[in-house]
Amino acid sequence: METITLTTDTDDCFAEAIAQAAAALRHGAVVALPTETVYGLAANALDESCVAKIFVAKDRPAKNPIIVHVADETMARDCVAEWPAAAAALANAFWPGPLTLVLPKAEGIPDNVTAGGGTVGVRWPGHPLMQEVIRACRFPLAAPSANVSNQVSPTTAAHVAAQLGGRIPLIINGGASEVGIESTVVEVAGNAVRVLRPGMISAEAIAAAWPEGAAANETGILKSPGQLPRHYAPNARLLVLTWSDADDLENQIAYSRTPHDRICVITHNRIVTGTRFGRVSVFPNDPEAYARALYAELHQCDAEGAELIVVEAVPEAAEWLGIADRLMRASGRE
Ligand code: TXA
Ligand code: MG
Repeated sequence: METITLTTDTDDCFAEAIAQAAAALRHGAVVALPTETVYGLAANALDESCVAKIFVAKDRPAKNPIIVHVADETMARDCVAEWPAAAAALANAFWPGPLTLVLPKAEGIPDNVTAGGGTVGVRWPGHPLMQEVIRACRFPLAAPSANVSNQVSPTTAAHVAAQLGGRIPLIINGGASEVGIESTVVEVAGNAVRVLRPGMISAEAIAAAWPEGAAANETGILKSPGQLPRHYAPNARLLVLTWSDADDLENQIAYSRTPHDRICVITHNRIVTGTRFGRVSVFPNDPEAYARALYAELHQCDAEGAELIVVEAVPEAAEWLGIADRLMRASGRE
């Protein structure tokens, strides 16, 4: 299959990309679209046979539910059977944005979107192009991240093309994703809210927007279904370590016997000099800027043939939790 990529740099290109994406989606195809978190592989969320194409293109296991993307709150409410005050408060505080709300599903949502379960994840994304495509389609879009299952999510159109080129008909290039890691997934059950997947909207921010949920939130973070231990993972082995200096780091990884030019280091605090390793990237010591850059760096390490990626452990503070979660999964540990 030939994969076409459309750019959106000018007003005309932008309008043309929306028209073509909406036409393809209306005809039942899958289309890779930019969102502010990561690129998504979208299909008509109300049509089971369209959604099925997502699983084929991604090699996605059927037990993994898919997030449904909407372009306003009314559309979100049409996808769910209940809209409790907690959902309204969180939607008000964070939509459009990197937050997915998991709620009892409406009847019209097909089983392959929810992996056969009774709940559906809904999100109103902030990216203007994604919003326009949903409005043009007038149906919600089921969209997991636009990568081959379990690999690192794409934050640029080039990342999508590298993984799914030849497997999907259309990619819309809407620039680099601003947030850079996947949305925070929150389950809403009546008054109770629970973080299923941490992200850049922290549990603290959620508790501030819905204080009544805090009392019910004793169980903390639960595992979202369909998330395998090794997920969001680059091809290279990834280790999360702390070190005092370059010698200490060398000692810690000596046992792996990896040639030094095949080692990539990602550091944000204890900086090591570049000469000893294949690639040393100094990341911002700020969670938002760090998240924005992380996946592009992992894709680059893979492209350069890295065998080992060593990442300096990030702080344990709440605003770093989403990043720490992705690093842990990329390292294959939970
Ligand atoms: O930022 C994002 O969330 C991106 C963009 C494209 O919106 N999407 C994304 O989708 O990360 P995906 O399929 O890679 O991850 C969706 C995850 C599932 O693996 C599951 O953990 C959780 O969201 N999820 C979705 N629907 C759910 C449901 N009904 N119940 C519980 N968890 C659900
Ligand atoms: Mg994914």
